[in-house]
Amino acid sequence: MPSPNPINLPDGLAARRAALVMLDAVLRKGQTLDSAASAARGLPSADAAHASAIAGETLRRLPDLDELIDSATRQRLPDDSKARMVLRLSLAQKIGLDTPDHAIVATALPLVDGGPRRLVHGVLGTLLRRGLGEVEPPRLPPEVEQRWAAAWGDAVVHAARAAIAQRPPLDLSFASNEVCAAYELGISLAPRHRRLDTAGRIESLPGFGDGSWWVQDLAASLPARLIPATATRVLDLCAAPGGKTMQLAAAGHDVTALDKSKSRLARLADNLARTGLTAKTIVADALNFTPPEPFDAVLLDAPCSSTGTFRRHPEVLYRARPSVIAELTELQTNLLAKAATFVRPGGTIVYAVCSLELQEGEAIVAAFLAANSGFAISPPQPGELPDAVTSSPDGRVRILPGMLTDVGGLDGFFVARLLAPAKRLVAAAK
Ligand SMILES: C[S@@+](CC[C@H](N)C(=O)[O-])C[C@H]1O[C@@H](n2cnc3c(N)ncnc32)[C@H](O)[C@@H]1O
Repeated sequence: MPSPNPINLPDGLAARRAALVMLDAVLRKGQTLDSAASAARGLPSADAAHASAIAGETLRRLPDLDELIDSATRQRLPDDSKARMVLRLSLAQKIGLDTPDHAIVATALPLVDGGPRRLVHGVLGTLLRRGLGEVEPPRLPPEVEQRWAAAWGDAVVHAARAAIAQRPPLDLSFASNEVCAAYELGISLAPRHRRLDTAGRIESLPGFGDGSWWVQDLAASLPARLIPATATRVLDLCAAPGGKTMQLAAAGHDVTALDKSKSRLARLADNLARTGLTAKTIVADALNFTPPEPFDAVLLDAPCSSTGTFRRHPEVLYRARPSVIAELTELQTNLLAKAATFVRPGGTIVYAVCSLELQEGEAIVAAFLAANSGFAISPPQPGELPDAVTSSPDGRVRILPGMLTDVGGLDGFFVARLLAPAKRLVAAAK
């Protein structure tokens, strides 16, 4: 039988090689971890999962890993040097994945073949011998910590550090109340919701095959819960891949799902097919769209920095640079102004972002209300949101790290429901 490892490479090297390519794609090329995961294509699924785990763990702990590396080098290694990248992912395995020292060293050195092997060997040896000390909750990038401390306070930053170190729970949204109530796994924190503590493959969970549920963080399910039951025609304006479209369709609305991205809308169509739910789909840029008639309600889950999803997607902390956030806030402003032209007088807009940035949430809605004085916030009514989720005195919903931590926490989110004036007074959209 041929050897599975014919040239005597250390076990697990292919996964580390893929992790190195992923890390480089995220940090230097600005890709998401999901798209960078193509580096593991062709590997056995266990190796591909291991590669993603190493890259994810490295991104969760980057500032701490860099501090350790800097404490053991005389000259600071450049941020994007291969030596630093290899050291980062080696130390992440030690701290976050309990990998034995010999496996870390054996797989690190071939990654720097033809490069600074001795340096990497020396730094790794020094740090592993020294011991990495008490593992504290990971620090976030300093600019993110400063931004969030200024916006939400130090306690939220500490809660975010604790949250990024833990595996978040798996939330399922159900199409049917009855099927949800009868589901044998997890706990329910809201109607049509169950929360599971599992790291297994979602395809092997009961009910996946028959499309009873889809994966959706509980926080991400809040915006659709605020669409009034009385709204018949609902426009889901930035809809793909369709978690909220499916909620709206399951709630019985006549849903039109619009998205600019054809490929993401194809995923939405697959999701609808799997769950047996229906919605009309339109590929269009919302900024150039004109509906044949106004809608009773518009759900605008706007494109954003996604910093609220940092637990599952730690790379968002590195992608959300101030210039990126500034571009997104301009788009969000224009999309919300446009959405206001799509609702009938007295209709409803729900504005949402999975962002922990004030500029993308509270500030967008405040500017909109200042420019459109006929609109008003319509606060959530008792029973519309899970009991543990509260709104601000004026009715905005802000989900922060530190909320519901006893049951696994929530993604960061902002949601506001806006009521259109009974008579048309909307300022012209750009
Ligand atoms: C936050 S995601 C939406 C997630 C979706 N609501 C869900 O629950 O699955 C934002 C979406 O906005 C879409 N988008 C961005 N700019 C757009 C535009 N100008 N018009 C329409 N869709 C846009 C993106 O393609 C992306 O699918």
